[in-house]
Amino acid sequence: MIDRRTFLLSVGAYSISPGVPAAKAEPELIVAKKSKIQLAPDGYPQTEVWAYNGRVPGEILRIRQGGRIVRRLENQLDDPTTIHWHGIRIDNAMDGVSDLTQAPVGSGEGFLYDFVVPDAGTFWFHPHRNTLEQVSRGLSAPLIVDEPDQPDIDDDIVLMINDWRLDPDAQVIDDFANMMDRSHAGRIGNYLTVNGLAEYVRASKRNERLRLRVINASSDRVIRLGGKELNAHIVALDGMPLRAPLHLDGMDLAPAQRVDLFADIVAEPGETAFLTSEERGGTYSLATFPVSADGAAVPRDYLKPLPPNDLPEPQLADAIATELVMEGGAMGGMMSGVMHRNRMMGMRDLMSKGLVWAFNGVAGMPDAPLLRADRHQTVRITLDNRTAFSHAMHLHGHHFSEMMPEGLGPARDTILVGARSSKEIAFVADNPGKWMFHCHMLAHQAAGMATWIEVGS
Ligand code: C2O
Ligand code: CU
Repeated sequence: MIDRRTFLLSVGAYSISPGVPAAKAEPELIVAKKSKIQLAPDGYPQTEVWAYNGRVPGEILRIRQGGRIVRRLENQLDDPTTIHWHGIRIDNAMDGVSDLTQAPVGSGEGFLYDFVVPDAGTFWFHPHRNTLEQVSRGLSAPLIVDEPDQPDIDDDIVLMINDWRLDPDAQVIDDFANMMDRSHAGRIGNYLTVNGLAEYVRASKRNERLRLRVINASSDRVIRLGGKELNAHIVALDGMPLRAPLHLDGMDLAPAQRVDLFADIVAEPGETAFLTSEERGGTYSLATFPVSADGAAVPRDYLKPLPPNDLPEPQLADAIATELVMEGGAMGGMMSGVMHRNRMMGMRDLMSKGLVWAFNGVAGMPDAPLLRADRHQTVRITLDNRTAFSHAMHLHGHHFSEMMPEGLGPARDTILVGARSSKEIAFVADNPGKWMFHCHMLAHQAAGMATWIEVGS
């Protein structure tokens, strides 16, 4: 017979580290710090970047649908930071928005992120503090959530696009306050990388079916995607599967947006297939697939859609509705009578703070949310873009659909609203908390295009 006290003592004596449960592993670290990498082509100096664990883009974080992510952010930068898990319908406390859902993580400090991922798909993460500068200097990484069953493909390839503004010595130009960028199309770089490379190349075979997960991690650049010798179909947008795959015939991928393509290589052996971007009349390669071997003689057969994620269906008849009027910027008649931090400010004062855009007459985050919704309420928001530029509006914690004459469009977390046009979106506000709603052209966000909504519990 062992009495309870001796039993407890003997357990204590045998445990490796008394008082600390042995099974509890330390969480893996994501360290934000300065690093030097070869970003520009060979022959150029190394570039000083801000990176997650020394890599640009950061290493792919990959998990099964329904899995739990536990990572400790360690900030070794001089600048406070956070991590936002873009597109994840996440617990609000883990959303990573500095000063809205958490305190910024100061230099030398850490923060434990611990959350469950409900949806399979292509996502990414990046800072949400001084975001324009931190993303432009290299802080971003893919977050891939796998479906329970692997679709029938030959390879699964993540292609993360970063847009850099480099000087002739290949260093990131420190001009984040540039008013020209802020008031026009944003901070557009002069050097694009795919997975940190000047040119992404993958040897391929004819009739291979590749899943290409394209992530636009540019601060402000819209990428016009296309394919050559690729028979590509869009199977998901912003992580959410389409009901029916759509043939890729040119599409805009706005900052923060993702597209999953099933791309069949149709080039002959000896030829090359390309994923392309179009820019001012020119066509450039984003990814190059030289066809090196015979491969399969026949094309792959019918393409099945990906299994849907469990998104609630908007109930339009019971929706509450509001409007977001976007104003300001160059050639937009600029702004008058705009509030900032509860004060009416003139043009000159706003400009001195780097602010050139407003939502509903407010530049920068308002004290009160754009709207408050009860949980499970369907919400409609009209995005009325009265500016001369397009904007990539991103809602946190939810996916929404554009309302179109033929019905609800595909679920997305970021939508491009063209200059002087308007779109209406609808979603079920089923995730309690405070959620940012902002332009993901990060120079525009920094220059005032930010608001938030609140969902009751
Ligand atoms: Cu990709 Cu508010 O973020
Ligand atoms: Cu914008």
